[in-house]
Amino acid sequence: MSNDFLTNMFSLEGQVALVAGASSGIGAEFASALAKAGANVVLGARRTDRIQRLADDIAAETGRKTLAVALDVTSGDSVRAAFDAAEEAIGTVTIICNNAGIGRPKYALDDTEEDWDITMETNLKGMWRVGTEAARRMQAAGKGGSIINTASVLGLMVGPQQLTYATSKAGVIQMTKVMALEWQRFGIRVNALCPGYFKTEINDKFLDSDLGQRMLKATPAKRHGELAELVPSMLMFASPTSSFTTGVALPVDGAHTLRIA
Ligand code: NAI
Repeated sequence: MSNDFLTNMFSLEGQVALVAGASSGIGAEFASALAKAGANVVLGARRTDRIQRLADDIAAETGRKTLAVALDVTSGDSVRAAFDAAEEAIGTVTIICNNAGIGRPKYALDDTEEDWDITMETNLKGMWRVGTEAARRMQAAGKGGSIINTASVLGLMVGPQQLTYATSKAGVIQMTKVMALEWQRFGIRVNALCPGYFKTEINDKFLDSDLGQRMLKATPAKRHGELAELVPSMLMFASPTSSFTTGVALPVDGAHTLRIA
């Protein structure tokens, strides 16, 4: 028996979502979930062959419109071109999963300036580029919307070999809050997800290593999260049902951030 109460609450029918960093891992999972919830979905990433295949699969499975666009969040021109393509093909984007990110785990004294620059360009300035471009276009179209930044538990706590990554993700959380504060009056909500460990291309080698396994055992949940366990929090932020929820940084981490260090 279908449950209209829940369906209506979380439906994204009529909305256009853009996922930055949609070619693998969390972004690919989010793109599929957004379409299943009723949105038309734009998948943006640099690996266009991968996102084209994903876009085709999602359209076939859900019957929603999908579009694969080349997107490099380190380039303002690329970000603007992706939004232009999305608007032309589907319409004003009202949901953003601002998700592109990289990690270069190294001890602090081994980090080079290049490590610092590329991490900040992608994780912090990249999310700023996508977030501000999205808000400008929503405002111009007289539409509100929801921006969901993928931060990390490492924006809330720290660990070794994470100087550049943790610093960038702490910046994402602060950026989320200022955007939420300023854009509330435009009806644009901005929230951050702070995932604990989820096995994806960014960390699969580490999580499979002895050290990674030991580290997971030391977490309260004693395991990594499954991608499907991150989706409901994203859909809550995405859907108009959370119209009074903005500026939040939500850990989805099996209590990882609560353990005694
Ligand atoms: P992933 O490596 O599978 O996905 C990262 C995505 O970002 C890929 O689609 C990649 O192509 C894209 N990307 C990287 N640089 C880009 C650029 N310059 N322009 C456009 N796209 C770019 O890894 P995962 O885990 O799915 O990561 C997604 C987000 O989640 C990242 O922001 C990551 O920092 C964050 N995160 C992941 C956690 C995990 O345990 N997997 C934990 C906490 C946060």
